[in-house]
Amino acid sequence: MRNAWFETVAEAQRRAKRRLPRSVYSALLAGSEAGVTYRDNTAAFGELGFAPRVGNLVAQRDLGTTVMGQDVALPVLISPTGVQAVDPDGEVAVARAAAARGVAMGLSSFASKPVEDVCATGAPVLFQMYWSGSRDEMSARMERARAAGCAGLIVTLDWSFSHCRDWGSPVIPEAMDLKAMLRFAPEVLARPSYLMTYARSGAVPDLTVPNMARRGEAAPTFFGAYGEWMQTPPATWDDIAWMRAQWGGPFMVKGIIRVDDAKEAVAAGATAISVSNHGGNNLDGTPATIRALPEIAAAVGDQVEVLLDGGIRRGSDVVKALALGARAVMIGRAYLWGLAANGQAGVENVLDILRAGVDSAVLALGHRSVRDLGPDDVVVPPGFTRRLGAPDPT
Ligand SMILES: Cc1cc2nc3c(=O)[nH]c(=O)nc-3n(C[C@H](O)[C@H](O)[C@H](O)COP(=O)(O)O)c2cc1C
Repeated sequence: MRNAWFETVAEAQRRAKRRLPRSVYSALLAGSEAGVTYRDNTAAFGELGFAPRVGNLVAQRDLGTTVMGQDVALPVLISPTGVQAVDPDGEVAVARAAAARGVAMGLSSFASKPVEDVCATGAPVLFQMYWSGSRDEMSARMERARAAGCAGLIVTLDWSFSHCRDWGSPVIPEAMDLKAMLRFAPEVLARPSYLMTYARSGAVPDLTVPNMARRGEAAPTFFGAYGEWMQTPPATWDDIAWMRAQWGGPFMVKGIIRVDDAKEAVAAGATAISVSNHGGNNLDGTPATIRALPEIAAAVGDQVEVLLDGGIRRGSDVVKALALGARAVMIGRAYLWGLAANGQAGVENVLDILRAGVDSAVLALGHRSVRDLGPDDVVVPPGFTRRLGAPDPT
């Protein structure tokens, strides 16, 4: 049998592409409009350089930190994503990997596994919500997450229902019924190892979102829940302050890309913010998150924990983000590709790649701890924070 271990996130992506049915791979790749933001999220990391040292390097480095009250072994968290149809164990496999590697996990309210099953793995879980439905419904979701043992809440604000992408969107069925199975059969039959994994599990890909229901109630379909969300008027900052008070524990606002919004999140009582553009899946033309980070960290970094997500593919990307003011980062596609390539072990593999890369960069930069990284460690080209990577001309 071929070695299931992979060396880089790029290889995990190649394997995910080979292993997943075309529509499922395309749903993971996502992106929006022309993909300018999607590409800029990764390209911008390539514009940053390092200023390594060679003397007095430190033999043992400490890569741990704390985020939202949780001790984590690595400054990397699992970002919340809906991972339907990638792996039969889905978010439970991801949570087991997070627990095994000592990192915390954001769990999407649009995930395919119940929050109770994910918390039972022992991973620290941060439940992620959108502003969707009535306050009563949102309170019930928070209550359910609290009862399950979630350590914190993430509210994601950067979604404005931008659905089109120039490379086409996959068809996602309402449910995996006979009609949908027949429709997707040619794609799935072309991916025998994916088919075998589901066949062995005895399950079919589940397209419901159990955490959008009250505990014990039937789970709505993805599209049913999405419809409710689309019809909900967007949250005001007062709504977010209400949510924060209602939750009462560690609270992250995800999707911040501007200094004024970062200040509003602090005023609403956030414990943490994530500088994020939803992985380039929302308003195309939003700059890479790493470009926005330094200004936001300078403005609110002493009042709130600043995280970043978007475009992290290497340990050195993590280190660049920390050097420019992040306390930790969150990863999305990187672990989804790992999950697609090799289930729980694939997610662990991705976390191990990032861990080794962080350690190597911290060694080269002459630090004892990830907490010692600073702006001196990176070379930032002129205009970096005001630029947007050139769109792909093809
Ligand atoms: C397939 C997919 C589904 C996602 N679903 C959610 C979600 O349900 N909630 C959320 O807050 N963010 C969601 N995100 C955004 C991620 O949490 C994260 O912000 C983004 O993936 C980071 O960029 P990266 O993929 O380049 O690491 C999703 C991203 C992807 C790619």
